[in-house]
Amino acid sequence: MMLELSTWCEVKEYLKTKKVIIIPVGSTEQHGPMGLMGTDFICPEFIARGVSDQTKTLVAPTLTIGMSQHHLAFPGSITLRPTTLIAVIKDVIHSLAGHGFTHLFFLNGHGGNVDSVKTAFSEVYAEHSFSKRPSSVHLQLCNWYGGKRLKKVQTRYFKTGEGSHATPSEISLSFYAHPGSVKKADLTPRVAPNHPFRDSSDFSDKFPDGRIGSDSSLASPEIGKEIFEAAVRDVLDAYELFLNPDIPA
Ligand code: NI
Repeated sequence: MMLELSTWCEVKEYLKTKKVIIIPVGSTEQHGPMGLMGTDFICPEFIARGVSDQTKTLVAPTLTIGMSQHHLAFPGSITLRPTTLIAVIKDVIHSLAGHGFTHLFFLNGHGGNVDSVKTAFSEVYAEHSFSKRPSSVHLQLCNWYGGKRLKKVQTRYFKTGEGSHATPSEISLSFYAHPGSVKKADLTPRVAPNHPFRDSSDFSDKFPDGRIGSDSSLASPEIGKEIFEAAVRDVLDAYELFLNPDIPA
């Protein structure tokens, strides 16, 4: 159930029985020579739809631009400043909470967003704390790539070369979601280097083709299907725990 394909009347009906919504959040940034620019929002959006199919939860429009300052040396990458992303997340929370949503589940696809999203949550809670107005809003950040079932699939297919950016896991999943956009490239070296980095110049000096520690050429839509099924189950667990925190994991 997608918010953008619903009417306001349908949303009003939904809120009579459910107060939870999933908000996919990602980024638009380079993902090496064969990864799609939209990888980090395609993946959480696709998984959110998988979770919604099983739970009938409303899914908000994906936040497609995140905090990607370190990718700006590569054509096409778009970023928000951390403070801008914090402001965007806060406004989304206030908009949805104002309609009566009490449980907001942010499903994230980009590591660079984590600090800003968590800070936005703290800012919202702080507003309630200072004003002595108890908050009915429950906020959760879940990274689609953090679960144990996914880890098993990664261990099976990507013993070396998973890395941390333009990973074969995320590229496989994006290819499964968009089989008409599968890309190939000759990667040299096959496994990219891995270092700490600072700004976009430092990033492009250290990672000339954009990858960090990964061998994107291991990606395939077939593996993407397995990744999808594992990640949906992982996220379902996190989602159920969010709604029922007192149930033992
Ligand atoms: Ni990514």
